[in-house]
Parts: sequence; C-alpha cells; structure tokens
Amino acid sequence: MPTTFNTSSNVLDLSAVVKASQTLSSETHLQNLLEKLIKIVAENVGGQKGFWVTRNNSEWKITASLGECGDSDDLAISVLNYVERTKKNVVLEDARRTELFAHDPYIIKNQPLSVLCTPIVHQSNLTGILYLENNRVTGAFTSDRLGILSLLTSQVSISIENIILYAREQEKSQQLQESLCKLQQTQTQLVHTEKISSLGQLVAGVAHEVNNPVSFINGNLSHINQYVKDLTKILKLYQKHLPEAPAEIADEMAAIDLEYMLEDLPQMINSMQLGTSRIKEIMQSLRNFSRNDGDEKRAINLHEGIDATLMILSHRLKAQPERPAIVIIKEYNNLPPVECYPGQLNQVFMNLIANAVDALDESNEGKTYVEIQKNPNAITINTTAKEDWVTITIADNGPGMSEHVREKLFNAFFTTKVEGKGTGLGLSISHQIITEKHGGTLECISSAGEGAKFVITIPVKTRYSCAA
Ligand SMILES: Nc1ncnc2c1ncn2[C@@H]1O[C@H](COP(=O)(O)OP(=O)(O)OP(=O)(O)O)[C@@H](O)[C@H]1O
Ligand SMILES: [Mg+2]
Repeated sequence: MPTTFNTSSNVLDLSAVVKASQTLSSETHLQNLLEKLIKIVAENVGGQKGFWVTRNNSEWKITASLGECGDSDDLAISVLNYVERTKKNVVLEDARRTELFAHDPYIIKNQPLSVLCTPIVHQSNLTGILYLENNRVTGAFTSDRLGILSLLTSQVSISIENIILYAREQEKSQQLQESLCKLQQTQTQLVHTEKISSLGQLVAGVAHEVNNPVSFINGNLSHINQYVKDLTKILKLYQKHLPEAPAEIADEMAAIDLEYMLEDLPQMINSMQLGTSRIKEIMQSLRNFSRNDGDEKRAINLHEGIDATLMILSHRLKAQPERPAIVIIKEYNNLPPVECYPGQLNQVFMNLIANAVDALDESNEGKTYVEIQKNPNAITINTTAKEDWVTITIADNGPGMSEHVREKLFNAFFTTKVEGKGTGLGLSISHQIITEKHGGTLECISSAGEGAKFVITIPVKTRYSCAA
C-alpha cells in the first residue's frame, strides 16, 4: 500500500477508491465506464474539467468527457503528445508558468491553472489518456491524490482492455453468424436453382424429342385426309356405276356400316389433327417455359411466358370433384418486348400463380361445390406498359393474409403451409429474381379476407448489367 494513505483523510479516500473501483469493474459498456471513470477521478482528485482522449491516426479524439463534450481545441495538445511519448504523468501546478508547454496555443489562449494528464497503459500499450483541469486553484493535483489516481487507473486499464476484447469478440461472432446465415441462404438458393434448371433441361429435352414424331404424324395426317377423300370419291363412283354390288361385297358393306364409316372418317381425321396441333402447342409451351437463359438477357413477349405457365398449371386450374374450375381473367394490354431472363421470369409467374391456387384451395375448405360456384375462384392477370416499365399484377380472390404474414412474406423459409407442402422459398427467390436480376420491384397488396395481389414492375430495357 503506498505510504500516502497513512493519514486519516486518506483512509477515507481509500474506502472511496475501493467503492469506485468496484463500480468501475462492474461496468461492461466502454462509453459508460469512461464517463464514470472521469467523474470519479474528477471528484476524488479534484478536477473541474475532464476528458478521456485517444489517438485517431494523426489526431486526438475525445471519447468521453465530464459534462459537455468538448473537442481537441479544449485541451493542451502538447501535454497530450508529451504523455503519449513518455507514458508518464504530467502534473502542472500552474500551467501558465511552465516552460515546457509555454508555446501550447491552448495554454496561451485559455491560461489554465492546474493540469493533470495521465496515460492509461496496459501491457505497455497506451489505451488512452486522462486529462483533468482545475481552473479555480493552482496546485490542485497533489501527489497523494496521484496515488489514488494510479490505483484507479491501473484497475480501469484492465477493465477497458477486457471490454474492448469482449466487444471485438462480439463483433466477430456477429459477423460469423451473418456469414453463416448468408451461406445457408445461398446454398438453398443454389440447390433450388440447380433443381429448377435441371428440371427445365429435362422438360426442354423431352419436349424436343416429342416434337419430332408429333410433327411427323401431324404432317402425314393432312395427306391421309386427302387420300381418304380420294378413296371415298372412287368408292362413290363405283357405287354410281355399279349400283348392284355382288352379294359378298353387299354383305361386307352392311357389316362394317360403310355409310357411317365414310361420314365418321373425315371427322376422326379432323379431331386427330386438332389433337396433334394441341400436342405441338403444349410442347412449344414447355419449351417456352423451360428456356435456357444463358448469360445474356433476351427481349421477349412476356405474354408467352405467362401463357406457358398457365398451360403447365392447367391441371391445377381445371375443375375438380370438390370445386369448379378456377376462372382465369386475362387483362393483357400491349407490351413491348422486355429484355429479361425468360426462364427466371417464368419461375416467378409459376410461384405467384401456384401460391394463388394454394390460397384459393385453402379458402374453399368447408364450402360446398355450389357455394363456391356462386362466388367462383378467380385469378386475374393484368399487364400494362408505361414509359420504360411494364407492370404485371397477379391477383386472386382467396383468403388474403394478415399483416403479420405480409411482413414476412419474402423471407426465405417463411411458410404457413403444412410440412412437405411448402418450403417457403418461392417468394424469396421470386423477389430476388425481380429485384436483383431485373432491377424491378415485387410487392404484395393484401389484407385478411380481401384476396392477394402481387405487383411486378420491371424495366423494359436493362438498366445495369448483372449475371444470370
Ligand atoms: N396469394 C396468396 N394468398 C395468401 N397467402 C399467400 C399468397 N401467396 C403467398 N402467401 C403466403 O406466403 C407464404 C410464403 O410463400 P412462398 O411462396 O414463399 O412459400 P410457400 O408457398 O409456402 O412454399 P414454396 O417454397 O413451396 O413456394 C405462404 O406460405 C403463404 O402463407
Ligand atoms: Mg409458394
């Protein structure tokens, strides 16, 4: 124990120091600790004005102060520089009369009386500098008071170091947490994109393979049509010129019901032609839907993508035993070709329309077929172009959603669907595709019981380049 504590007044000081040191060591927030330190030191050592100063590159920075915060014009910089260099206390009984700091602009201007400047050093590193002034009296900072100060500061330097280390650790662990979160998101998106793109390639491949034989059948059907017409004509000519057919032929004609067959055959060929044309359309839609985007955006007609998506989802839209078909209301306006990644936009249409169907199915629960028929399930798709932007809205008259759901809608993994039905990735990926890949916006307007409306807005032309 330093000898300066052997008088009765200093014994009192000692108990104050112990209390102060306890207060300081329980503080875990750096700024609070520094403010408390200055206050306690000023009270115990006799300072009127106090600052905690740290080096910020070439400048001194006041991190905490007693009372109002000050700036570096409020203290004697040459004293700080001296303490930093020597790592020793400076005690000026009367700063106006000290040769060493006589040229300090602050001292010349403000004529301070007592000045105390002490370094806080931990493991020979300077953590900061404590600067005190008393302008009421000269010689305010006596040597026995300095003893108290050194006790306090050595204790505090450890606390400061610990807080800084703890804060660094906290920051690091937060950064790690964020990186991990980002990594997980990227991973799931990669898996999803990979799944979709390999599915897309498969579909495009199958569509291509099916297209060839269908074209072959479709092409031949028109010849068959002609041949059947020709054969029918010949048959009619035979009947005209040989009205009395031999018995064997007459029997066979009756057995196969020739008249009916000749009437039915062209209709059959007609419906086969319709069927193959439909297969070709479906294959075209599949190929449109699963376009391989590559790295470059392409200018396309968005209606093709929406129609292809509707076609792919047609099995979910058509009538079911428990409900009538979902009505699709297309409000298409003229759209210019839009520079985009068509395959990715189709994913967005798919997610939004599939969500609308899910929502409608949910709203039908507990209702009878007839009740649903009175207020049919409907999805309205509107497209408009204005200036350099196109807007596509997809609205359903389903149950809508609460504000709580709407706020979390675009978060990855947010779903209200039962396990196994929804992954909660559809909207978060859609949002990313629209905003990040296309420089557009995706918003949802909805409240409980009012249906839901998703609004996509994208620029007609790419504003900035970004990879697929
Ligand atoms: N049209 C809608 N009407 C009502 N709620 C909706 C609608 N669209 C989305 N939601 C709500 O938003 C949630 C998140 O949708 P999102 O498409 O991201 O995931 P999901 O459909 O649950 O799963 P998946 O990843 O299979 O698409 C849904 O679970 C649902 O609660
Ligand atoms: Mg979904």
